[in-house]
Amino acid sequence: MSVLTVENVIAGYSAGDQILKGVNFHVGEREIVCIVGPNGAGKSTLLKTIAGLLRPSEGSITYQGAPINGMKPHDVSRHGIAFVPQEHNVFGNMTVYENLEMGGYIAPKHFRARADEVMKHFPILLKKKTQLARTLSGGQRQLLAVGMALMVDPGLILLDEPTAGLSPAAAYELFSEICKLRDAGKAIALVEQNAREAMAISDRTYILVDGKNSIEGPSPELLANEDINRIFLGG
Ligand SMILES: Nc1ncnc2c1ncn2[C@@H]1O[C@H](COP(=O)(O)OP(=O)(O)OP(=O)(O)O)[C@@H](O)[C@H]1O
Ligand SMILES: [Mg+2]
Repeated sequence: MSVLTVENVIAGYSAGDQILKGVNFHVGEREIVCIVGPNGAGKSTLLKTIAGLLRPSEGSITYQGAPINGMKPHDVSRHGIAFVPQEHNVFGNMTVYENLEMGGYIAPKHFRARADEVMKHFPILLKKKTQLARTLSGGQRQLLAVGMALMVDPGLILLDEPTAGLSPAAAYELFSEICKLRDAGKAIALVEQNAREAMAISDRTYILVDGKNSIEGPSPELLANEDINRIFLGG
């Protein structure tokens, strides 16, 4: 069964502005689905629309079979979808622990247990619990952003370029954490510029071009296709 289904979605940043020009996208249970494509293709816009930050003017978005389009971001989050934005995804002047608290604000009852669970999952966050987030390394900061998302115990996690700016080693580590989340039963939509590496850990890939679906299929098939490599993956 499909966890998330996006059908013929048209959305943009102002009335009549069509950045997404009829996008179709779905994520199944325990799937990592990759979204790649050129800069400005609408990848972040798609995640923001799913997360409720933008309202589609047409089309439908359903999560676990129920419509969510037009919902406010906190309601989308309450339904079980967590969004880790491309930028400004942690509060630099708050401690690691306070950031987790912010991530869990919609479920304050479960805060302590979930924070403990997240810090068990990412031991570096436990070690740096009382440190300000701005003093973390890039990789640690991205782990914190993912940790904040986990505070709502989501069924689906939307990740926008989580490895941007990370060293190859840190990116590798983050990708393996993403695999573990999938193994723990989460569905994941992953936007990445490190396309090959992201596709390598994903089940399926969508290539988005100019606000529209271009190519989609099982990631191993797309990775093995010479034309796709040449045109979209830089060689
Ligand atoms: N806040 C905004 N207001 C108006 N237009 C925006 C806004 N954010 C993005 N856009 C426009 O929407 C289009 C798609 O942008 P988007 O950020 O979704 O691309 P992307 O595929 O995520 O690109 P990148 O790989 O560079 O992150 C671009 O033309 C961009 O200029
Ligand atoms: Mg983007």
